[in-house]
Amino acid sequence: MNDQHSVCPMEKAVSLEKGWRKWLHHPKKILKPYVREGMTVLDVGCGPGFFTIPLAEMVGQNGKVIATDIQQGMLDKVSSKINGTELENRVDLQLTPQDSLGVTTPVDFVLAFYVLHELPDIEKFLREIKTILKPDGKILVTDPTFHVSKEEFARTLELIKRAGFTVISQPRIWFSRTALLES
Ligand SMILES: C[S@@+](CC[C@H](N)C(=O)[O-])C[C@H]1O[C@@H](n2cnc3c(N)ncnc32)[C@H](O)[C@@H]1O
Repeated sequence: MNDQHSVCPMEKAVSLEKGWRKWLHHPKKILKPYVREGMTVLDVGCGPGFFTIPLAEMVGQNGKVIATDIQQGMLDKVSSKINGTELENRVDLQLTPQDSLGVTTPVDFVLAFYVLHELPDIEKFLREIKTILKPDGKILVTDPTFHVSKEEFARTLELIKRAGFTVISQPRIWFSRTALLES
């Protein structure tokens, strides 16, 4: 089991979309190497949709973004941004339980940004992702440097390997400990 950090509360949703983030976590720059038009992408723990909206733009009209969260309030925030826009039909918002992935659709790419440290059982979660990841599919996981120490992330990397994933690279992203994974 994870040495669990608390789940990011709704009151902090606004801090996930602060101006600094758009500069330092420019979503399309971070995601460009992995996301193409027509893909089905899973945004696990999407929060208020900082990455969900750019992902929906990147997959285009033939692609799909499945955005999950355990807090309905987060999903409502995403919903309020896309309702009535062309992105509405590209995004499936799913309220999921804390102890399971809750998604069975095959996906090309998974983003788990600032989420792993909040999961009750990282290895179990990754094993579930493995069952829906298409061949050649990749996962980008990140944890915040201000919550997760180097040592803690090293333990997470061990769990990642135990779940059957290989770390292909560790892209540099501000304030983030990262790993790009494949099966
Ligand atoms: C720190 S926020 C990050 C949000 C978003 N990924 C971002 O980078 O802006 C973490 C989010 O993960 C969600 N979360 C926590 N545990 C989860 C789980 N087991 N399954 C899905 N979402 C979860 C929280 O509700 C919260 O919205």
